[in-house]
Amino acid sequence: MITVDDLRAHPLHQVHRLIEPGPVILISTRHHGTPNVMTNGFNMMVRHAPPLIAATVGPWDHSYQALVETGECVIAVPTADMAATVVDIGNCSGADVDKFAEFDLTAVDAEQVDAPLIAECHANIECRVADTSLVSSYHLFLLEPVRAWTDPSQPAPELLHHRGDGTFTVDGPVLDLQDRMTKWQYLL
Ligand SMILES: Cc1cc2nc3c(=O)[nH]c(=O)nc-3n(C[C@H](O)[C@H](O)[C@H](O)COP(=O)(O)O)c2cc1C
Repeated sequence: MITVDDLRAHPLHQVHRLIEPGPVILISTRHHGTPNVMTNGFNMMVRHAPPLIAATVGPWDHSYQALVETGECVIAVPTADMAATVVDIGNCSGADVDKFAEFDLTAVDAEQVDAPLIAECHANIECRVADTSLVSSYHLFLLEPVRAWTDPSQPAPELLHHRGDGTFTVDGPVLDLQDRMTKWQYLL
């Protein structure tokens, strides 16, 4: 059985490094004891510290009610080898399908929230809903990370980026320009 002991705790003040490249993410929730997961492409980091992430989750998603009522979720960051599964997760509803069973996803108990981590993902960020003031106008939830994990067995993850039309790009070579980050040394 996988537990958080198999993962590496990731510092909250560096959570932005897990999703700043804007990857497609999975959002897991647990509502009335039932876990569910959806695919999300519209998301962004909002603040470094304390970290804040914004994600749009529409009322057409089964996950929406779970997010509103529990105020919790996990942002799980999949890698490119999960691409087909990521698309399929976003093309069916937890109202009809047990997606963890259907897609062979391993739910791992999180530490701070009830929503499950997803063992197959390289990073998992436990979040609480921090602000719903933009939900009625934009379906935009502001999520505050309260714990974050990475999988030490995936040291060089290639993330998936949606181009908005069912095609995707995959992370390529890393460019090291840290010596030019003169104004932002404290973030490196
Ligand atoms: C690549 C991709 C990106 C998506 N991005 C979003 C998104 O940013 N926001 C959203 O509400 N739905 C998004 N969806 C749609 C949901 O994942 C989809 O409605 C899913 O069936 C919801 O699952 P649920 O009903 O179990 O919550 C996306 C789907 C795909 C395939």
